[in-house]
Amino acid sequence: MRVLTTGGAGYIGSHTVLALVEAGHEPVILDNFANSSPEAVRRVSELAGREIELIEADLLDAPAVDRIVADGNFDAVIHFAGLKAVGESAAQPLRYYRSNILSTLNLLDAMQKHGVRNVVFSSSATVYGEAGTVQYTEELPLNAMNPYGRTKMHIEQILDDLAASEPGWHIGKLRYFNPVGAHPSGRIGEDPRGIPNNLMPFVSQVAVGRREHLNVFGDDYPTPDGTGVRDYIHVVDLAGGHVAALEALGDVRGSRAWNLGSGQGSSVLEVVRAFERAAGRPIPYVVAPRRDGDLPEFFADPTLARLELHWKTERGLDDMARDAWNWQSKNPFGYGTGEEDPEA
Ligand code: NAD
Ligand code: UD1
Repeated sequence: MRVLTTGGAGYIGSHTVLALVEAGHEPVILDNFANSSPEAVRRVSELAGREIELIEADLLDAPAVDRIVADGNFDAVIHFAGLKAVGESAAQPLRYYRSNILSTLNLLDAMQKHGVRNVVFSSSATVYGEAGTVQYTEELPLNAMNPYGRTKMHIEQILDDLAASEPGWHIGKLRYFNPVGAHPSGRIGEDPRGIPNNLMPFVSQVAVGRREHLNVFGDDYPTPDGTGVRDYIHVVDLAGGHVAALEALGDVRGSRAWNLGSGQGSSVLEVVRAFERAAGRPIPYVVAPRRDGDLPEFFADPTLARLELHWKTERGLDDMARDAWNWQSKNPFGYGTGEEDPEA
């Protein structure tokens, strides 16, 4: 399939583009590099052994999106592009609603007009919010707790309404749990700008000496060691989940949500220990207050993806830590040199 991947230069997009090539598909990247680097595309091309087609464009530019879809001869779209920082979304809700929702509307308008009816969307486990349970199944009501999460929830609803409005749409909504790790080559990985919000990139930067210590946000949760428990998923497994979803879309009438996670929770301290084993050095940490909006524990029920996508995770926490460390130690400043990021 010829697949338009919006946000394909980003962290999850770049790994998925490579997985698509490996599975015999033809990805085309659309990105405005708002949160990524052309260097990622160059490296994916190098790993793929061929030049990946790249279109530099902003999804907020409706006429440009219309032209790209009109001319692209695409069989399907994987829609990664969007803003994703929870704290920033609370400070700048209009920017988040505009960026995430308006860009999706532009894309869907163009797809509808030019007859592209297959789409896989990057949703998030964050759409479930506080669900009154720790293992999330797809039937739980959506209850996002911050503007970022609500953009994902609203886009899911828009996709459902679109699918209900006319026949012929095949829509997969992928609810990712906590993607971490990097390609085992160490050539592509996660390259957050500024101070990382998420645990694994922060731990990686402590290990490589860019930050002094980790703040563990709370050690008095009702979990086995008192720290927060999440379902970490290796980004290469996640990339495979997109290929599986794309290939299963033909069987979907309308829209369908799938959890992409391992089904297993790991605590903050378990992540720290795994990283210490991988890097062969201690990760200094201090216990800090709980972070606002954090839940004690949640993980996926991945049964539906196993049954319908014939997909499951294959890599464990030690693989995630090893590959994250391999990437971080070979690229201490990600795709840059460390000089372009004043906060780094
Ligand atoms: P990322 O920031 O690395 O990738 C997003 C890409 O989209 C970037 O390359 C960025 O430049 C591009 N982009 C943003 N706005 C754009 C626009 N208007 N036009 C064109 N390109 C634009 O993020 P990621 O971690 O790879 O996440 C990909 C998707 O998965 C996002 O939608 C994110 O919300 C979702 N998601 C991510 C996580 C996670 O932990 N990384 C978890 C759940 C869901
Ligand atoms: C966060 C987002 C979520 C998003 C997900 C992407 C919030 C409230 N939620 O989820 O919307 O979909 O990232 O992966 O931001 N931790 C520390 N110290 C740190 C960073 C994190 O102790 O410096 C802890 C957190 O309290 C949590 C765990 O590590 O228990 C994982 O945190 P994180 O990687 O930010 O992911 P989530 O909180 O699950």
